[in-house]
Amino acid sequence: MKSSAPGKIILFGEHAVVYGRPALAVPVTQVHVDVEVLDSPRKGIWIHAPIIDLHAELNSLPPDHAIASVILKILPSPLRPSPSGRGDGGEGGLDIHITSTIPVAAGLGSGAAVSIALIRALSSFLFLDISDDQVNSLAYEIEKIHHGTPSGIDNTVITYAKPVYFIKDKPIETFRAAKPFTIVIGDTGIPALTKESVGDVRRLWTKDKLKFESIFDEIAQIAIVARRSIERGNPQLLGELMNQNHSLLQEMTVSSPELDKLVQAARDAGAPGAKLSGGGRGGNMIALADQATAESVARALMSAGAKNTIITEVA
Ligand code: MEV
Repeated sequence: MKSSAPGKIILFGEHAVVYGRPALAVPVTQVHVDVEVLDSPRKGIWIHAPIIDLHAELNSLPPDHAIASVILKILPSPLRPSPSGRGDGGEGGLDIHITSTIPVAAGLGSGAAVSIALIRALSSFLFLDISDDQVNSLAYEIEKIHHGTPSGIDNTVITYAKPVYFIKDKPIETFRAAKPFTIVIGDTGIPALTKESVGDVRRLWTKDKLKFESIFDEIAQIAIVARRSIERGNPQLLGELMNQNHSLLQEMTVSSPELDKLVQAARDAGAPGAKLSGGGRGGNMIALADQATAESVARALMSAGAKNTIITEVA
């Protein structure tokens, strides 16, 4: 049984979204996690994830291991007989193959994509009928184990694989671009854990709530105006909004010299706006472009030190 999940980028509102403000995110289908679950003649549940150099039997991993915890959620006990009779320790076991083209710790949602592809592949292998809403809430539980206080935006945009206007604990709202627009994604190549930047922002917020609440409010306004611009077919307005959002993220201390350098390089190459995307400190940034300028913005990002670029269309 196979399942695939895309990556994601946040267009506007990262970090503020943890504090109840709206954020916009879109799936990135150029990168993905693929999971295949197969019968195996040998006993046990074997996980093969070459991207993280993992080849192990489930019971040899700690229960809170990022991949083991997902499997244990779907299959609470490895010895539990399943409707298909698999995994009961008596008739051979399972091989779970996980491959991914989503860079790890880069703000592209690799963790949530692994959870979601794994939940879907395992549940269909076990003939468990599981809705998107169930996939989403299971993936959110896993995010909470590994990321401290996640807003839930990553698991939501990846589960539904649609652009989302997301407010924590509110019903999911998707949006459509009245006019397609192009985004260039640039990877600093510097791994950065979202959990750490989210934790740092929380410490700063605790010390100066007035300042941080007002930054979050400004970001909320940007996200609201951005959604309206996208839905009304005025994506050219997004550039300035990205620049404003990036300045506010700098004030929150989640940018880095490498991210700032790529953001500046994109603007110098003609992008009307650019910002970091995701947790920050490293990982990815995004720039607004159009079909004509996307390639030259991507080249400028590479010259400024990006390790990789992706051109994606929000349609
Ligand atoms: C991570 O993709 C986005 C953050 O806002 C964290 C979260 O929403 O959980 C930084």
